[in-house]
Amino acid sequence: MTLLVTGGAGFIGSNFVLDWLASSDEPVVNLDALTYAGNLHNLDALQGDDRHIFVKGDITDRGLLDRLLQQHRPRAVLHFAAESHVDRSIHGPGAFIKTNVEGSFTLLEAVRGFWTERPADDKAAFRFLHVSTDEVYGSLQPTAPAFTETHPYEPNSPYSASKAASDHLVRAWHHTYGLPVLTTNCSNNYGPFHFPEKLIPLMIVNALAGKALPIYGDGQQVRDWLYVRDHCSAIRAVLAGGRTGETYNVGGWNEKANVEIVHTICALLNQLRPSDAGPYERLITHVKDRPGHDRRYAIDARKIESELGWRPAETFDTGIRKTVQWYLDNPQWVEQVQSGAYREWVTQQYTTA
Ligand code: NAD
Ligand code: DAU
Repeated sequence: MTLLVTGGAGFIGSNFVLDWLASSDEPVVNLDALTYAGNLHNLDALQGDDRHIFVKGDITDRGLLDRLLQQHRPRAVLHFAAESHVDRSIHGPGAFIKTNVEGSFTLLEAVRGFWTERPADDKAAFRFLHVSTDEVYGSLQPTAPAFTETHPYEPNSPYSASKAASDHLVRAWHHTYGLPVLTTNCSNNYGPFHFPEKLIPLMIVNALAGKALPIYGDGQQVRDWLYVRDHCSAIRAVLAGGRTGETYNVGGWNEKANVEIVHTICALLNQLRPSDAGPYERLITHVKDRPGHDRRYAIDARKIESELGWRPAETFDTGIRKTVQWYLDNPQWVEQVQSGAYREWVTQQYTTA
């Protein structure tokens, strides 16, 4: 028994692989192209562990996918690999179409070819789990009910449109070919190994460096935050017990405006690493808004809770404290990810803002 994970050197994928191998001896083949967002240091704890087989490669490479599937014969494929940052999708949507649409298509076709040839029992037990996002549902009005699994798709950014396209491909491969698929649509994650281009790690890293904390527009946009290890436990629950062809929304019932998130991070840092220059709130700066910025996301997680008994283990208070502490405890990781390419991105995104 083996799992094939794509994108397992990224933020959520690496947390998933670490969590999986902490509680199971089932080996993981981890296929990742190591883009700017992929980082093998996230997996340092698995060095020398032969249950983890890392393969550097691209999900658009059909020949490689065919070879890996034949060689390892996984009982499930968990598809995390994606271009994931909304702001980057606005600057350069091409990479998002390539990986999220063409890559997902190529992976589905390779998996279909492999799955079709499996013996009947293996075929029935096989799962393709597609890790997707709440952003495919678009933006909610302030008092509208949270997204359920039947909410219409209304993606607004190149990123969310490319993820929506991949969700539709996954759905079609089930309905047309019978591939046993599962899809999860999760809200905003935060936690260890989060690349500091996203709101929470960017604010922590900038505050510690005495740099501006750039809030887009009025900062009243709302996101529904989930600690990454709770997302991992939800994926495990869906893999184990989800009904094929179904989608499961995953969220922590933690709606917060961006300004509130930034103030919470400042308050924690004031307590855990006070600055001689004064409270970190002094660094808060409002900058130009993100084009097409979705105002609010919120997840109705009742389906996964009632069908699969999943519940998040962390509240936002416990999760954000652990996260801030992790960044304080791992300055080498932070330094290592702030490469030349990272600095170029920060300059491009924030100097004209
Ligand atoms: P990430 O950007 O941190 O990691 C993506 C990983 O995919 C990287 O390791 C990268 O090297 C790899 N990758 C990119 N293109 C590839 C390709 N063509 N072939 C092989 N590997 C490739 O992303 P993340 O935040 O960990 O998100 C993982 C998945 O979860 C994505 O599908 C994303 O849409 C989804 N998701 C993310 C969040 C969130 O808050 N971060 C929430 C819901 C869903
Ligand atoms: O909802 C799930 C999605 O969450 C995932 O599918 C995406 O992969 C993930 O990146 C995330 O998307 P967001 O756009 O919500 O996350 P981000 O961290 O980029 O931004 C969160 C909010 O903070 C958003 O309203 C924009 C705002 N923001 C972000 C940055 C980077 C700022 O105000 N300033 C910033 O510098």
